[in-house]
Amino acid sequence: MSTHGEIRKVTTHRLQEMKQAGEKIAMLTAYDFTMARLIDKAGIDVILVGDSASNIMAGHETTLPITLDQMIYHAASVIRGVQRALVVVDLPFGSYQGNSKEALNSAIRIMKETGAHAVKMEGGSEIEESVRRILSAGIPVMGHLGLTPQSIYKFGTYTVRAREEKEAAKLRADAALLEELGCFSIVLEKVPAALGREVAQSLHIPVIGIGAGSGVDGQVLVTHDMLGINHEFRPRFLRQYLQLHELMTHAFQQYIQDVKTGQFPSTSEQY
Ligand code: KIV
Repeated sequence: MSTHGEIRKVTTHRLQEMKQAGEKIAMLTAYDFTMARLIDKAGIDVILVGDSASNIMAGHETTLPITLDQMIYHAASVIRGVQRALVVVDLPFGSYQGNSKEALNSAIRIMKETGAHAVKMEGGSEIEESVRRILSAGIPVMGHLGLTPQSIYKFGTYTVRAREEKEAAKLRADAALLEELGCFSIVLEKVPAALGREVAQSLHIPVIGIGAGSGVDGQVLVTHDMLGINHEFRPRFLRQYLQLHELMTHAFQQYIQDVKTGQFPSTSEQY
């Protein structure tokens, strides 16, 4: 809150100040209005409308199938629930890799049709031209290095990236390039903690980790994972703050039983 009681919105500039002050940045995903409103009111700094919606919302095995129109639908729903957080939207697979003009059009559609504040893009030097073009239109870009799920068929697995020096060197160079181009932040996914710390210390922009250790400038988790809705997904980096799978299953079973036995609705639950 400001001194006048208005909400002080989180901006890319504010994230920069947080890095300089050594204040950690908290980021979570949301794909819909209700969840976004809850997370925003809890005081989150950044909400990511991740293309993980492809897995979590649509049940796909990878993030590749989600379309730009579908991301726009999710992002517009999220924005309606947010008053304070910075909202970043993933550019989906196929909307920016091939051609920088198409990349700019995709980013412009996201900004115009959703009211979001920034876009996120996976990759380093391979997408330099697209990043440059989007930034030149005044659209803030968050980078994403390390495990980049849109390239899962190139990697073959979701294991930790950049354990080998050659890949770590490329990641360091890509991180420096993204900062030099003008990205306001970078997500670093599933890399050794020592590398995460080194990259965060070498850059002026905030580095937000997921499975990148404690030495980075902030953390991001997929909300449904940290709530324990999908109880089969238990990677080492994930802390589950609730076991919602069990709680929700129990509530559904209780409801079914109450309906079947006639215990719901009671006399006080009818007109
Ligand atoms: O799509 C997503 O949820 C992400 C996070 C895992 C960083 O990119």
